[in-house]
Amino acid sequence: MTINWAQCHTRPVLMIPGPTELPFPVIQAMNQPPTIQYDRSFDEEVLEPTTLALREVFQTKNEVILMPGSGRTALEAGALSVIEPGDRVLVVGAGQFGVLMREIMNRVGAAWTEFPVEWGARLDLERLAREVEQLRPKAITLVHNETSTGTTYPADEVGRIAKSAGALYLLDTVSSIAGIDVRTDEWGVDLNMTGSQKCLAAPLGMALVAVSPRAFAAMERRKRAAPSLVYDLLRWKELWVPVSRGGKVPDGAARRQPVSIPTHLTGAMRVAARLILEEGLSHRFRRHAVAATAVRRGVAAMGLEMFPDASLLSNTVSCVKTPKSIDPAAVVTRMRDQYGILIGTGLDKMRSSTLRIGTMAMTASPHYVLPTLSALELALRDLGYKCEPGAGVAAAQAAFADAG
Ligand SMILES: Cc1ncc(COP(=O)(O)O)c(C=O)c1O
Repeated sequence: MTINWAQCHTRPVLMIPGPTELPFPVIQAMNQPPTIQYDRSFDEEVLEPTTLALREVFQTKNEVILMPGSGRTALEAGALSVIEPGDRVLVVGAGQFGVLMREIMNRVGAAWTEFPVEWGARLDLERLAREVEQLRPKAITLVHNETSTGTTYPADEVGRIAKSAGALYLLDTVSSIAGIDVRTDEWGVDLNMTGSQKCLAAPLGMALVAVSPRAFAAMERRKRAAPSLVYDLLRWKELWVPVSRGGKVPDGAARRQPVSIPTHLTGAMRVAARLILEEGLSHRFRRHAVAATAVRRGVAAMGLEMFPDASLLSNTVSCVKTPKSIDPAAVVTRMRDQYGILIGTGLDKMRSSTLRIGTMAMTASPHYVLPTLSALELALRDLGYKCEPGAGVAAAQAAFADAG
């Protein structure tokens, strides 16, 4: 009889690059009766402490705005708030999420220019600087961590280029924040846009944007109000940010939310942010770095190669090339159905040639990485790929041991 090892699990372990596994206190935080989102006690006891804690996570003094939605909501809210039809925007496009940014810019009527980067390849910063110099865009956008290719781009350097051109800097940190060092203020990020369900280890359902004073000023200079009432970030300044922090609401007065804030999800986010700060950012970034190194060494020992340029390897998403004879979708199905662990295939044009493994928040640890590599190896063997039993797990274990 063939044994199905997944049978006894009620759900697969999420080793996809988000949504990711949640710490138990975050899950517990949602098991509450409803509260009223416009009640002052929710604002004072939950929402405010959460946004203040998130400032530390974002490494910023800027306002961090929480809204219902996802990463895409944050990107769209950011774009529609600062960009007016006809504004020049330079979109750095290095993968599927660069394409998303381009589409959003298209919808808001930007006169966008793409700066194309071959998927998985390095970004030519000198050429980018020249292009920016020539184009003089109002804004530059970058995806810090391209989840489609498992690459991390030098967001600090791009920030320098944006600054020297006086352009607003819009950064997608959906798959990096709280897993990879993101220095919002130091890098001059005007809109730091992300979602709740990846390295923040909160449930899917919140969009987060850290907004610089420069970005708010750009919103105030618009000729026409933003085309969305609900996601216009300027309304947060007008209805929600107190005067002492540069907003319009008298200090101590009740403030209004431009869109009703989901109370359960905010409660979960509060706990998630607390856990991140209790761990400490530098410990957390190092943990992700070691876990991703272990994944890389593990797959290398199985005879597999990483997709991206070796200088860009992401610590939150590992994008691995599959052997020619093996269909990535078959590996994913086998791992899930037989071994109870879910990883992802590549996206779009990489769907039939790559696999993606997340090391995010809780899953950036031996507790998750070692069983994942074991299941990957078993699944590959089941599908006819020959590799030495245990080689991947042994190499990954050695990487964890080396890290001390
Ligand atoms: C880099 C990046 N940007 C944007 C998104 C879209 O975010 P969401 O799925 O939360 O809307 C994702 C989702 O995977 C992502 O990885």
